[in-house]
Amino acid sequence: MYLPEINFLTANNIPDVLRINARADYAWPESVIREDLQSSSQNEMTYIGAFATTTEAPLLGYAVLGREKRAGILMLLIVDKDFQRQGVGTQLLLAVGDCAMYLHMRRLRLRVKKSNIGAIALYSKMSFISETVRRGYYSTGEDAIEMSAALPLKIKL
Ligand SMILES: CC(C)(COP(=O)(O)OP(=O)(O)OC[C@H]1O[C@@H](n2cnc3c(N)ncnc32)[C@H](O)[C@@H]1OP(=O)(O)O)[C@@H](O)C(=O)NCCC(=O)NCCS
Repeated sequence: MYLPEINFLTANNIPDVLRINARADYAWPESVIREDLQSSSQNEMTYIGAFATTTEAPLLGYAVLGREKRAGILMLLIVDKDFQRQGVGTQLLLAVGDCAMYLHMRRLRLRVKKSNIGAIALYSKMSFISETVRRGYYSTGEDAIEMSAALPLKIKL
């Protein structure tokens, strides 16, 4: 297990986010990242990062929390390939859950590709349950599974 330092991301972290995105199979366009992180009010999208605890403190992964009515939405979760399966995704998810509770949200929702077995395993371990399947939700035609969990998130042991 790796214990990262968790913190909010700011415009200073744009290069770190772009570096993670360049190595990821899927990420948002640079223009979206820049707009979100440079905007003075980040009320709609909260970016949370996991940093290595070395002096260079590189970003290991990040998550984006959005809002849909009274629920929080996990918009994105990416961990650098070299740091996967070390608990970083779990710790980011827990931080997203804490942040959502602070913003008075009672549930956290997300959509995930049906084929993304690893992410679904992580979400299930964090007590998310599958609610509906959205047929052909993604541009590739792939189905999305909608999952949600009550806050605070609980890890199933
Ligand atoms: C999904 C993702 C964020 C998981 O991050 P991570 O840091 O590797 O996750 P963790 O180490 O905290 O994993 C916790 C548990 O989740 C499950 N899990 C995570 N990745 C898994 C995988 N590839 N296969 C099976 N189970 C997996 C395991 O139960 C794991 O516990 P274990 O390692 O003790 O077996 C990471 O694989 C990733 O960035 N993938 C690409 C982007 C993506 O698909 N994001 C989700 C979009 S909805």
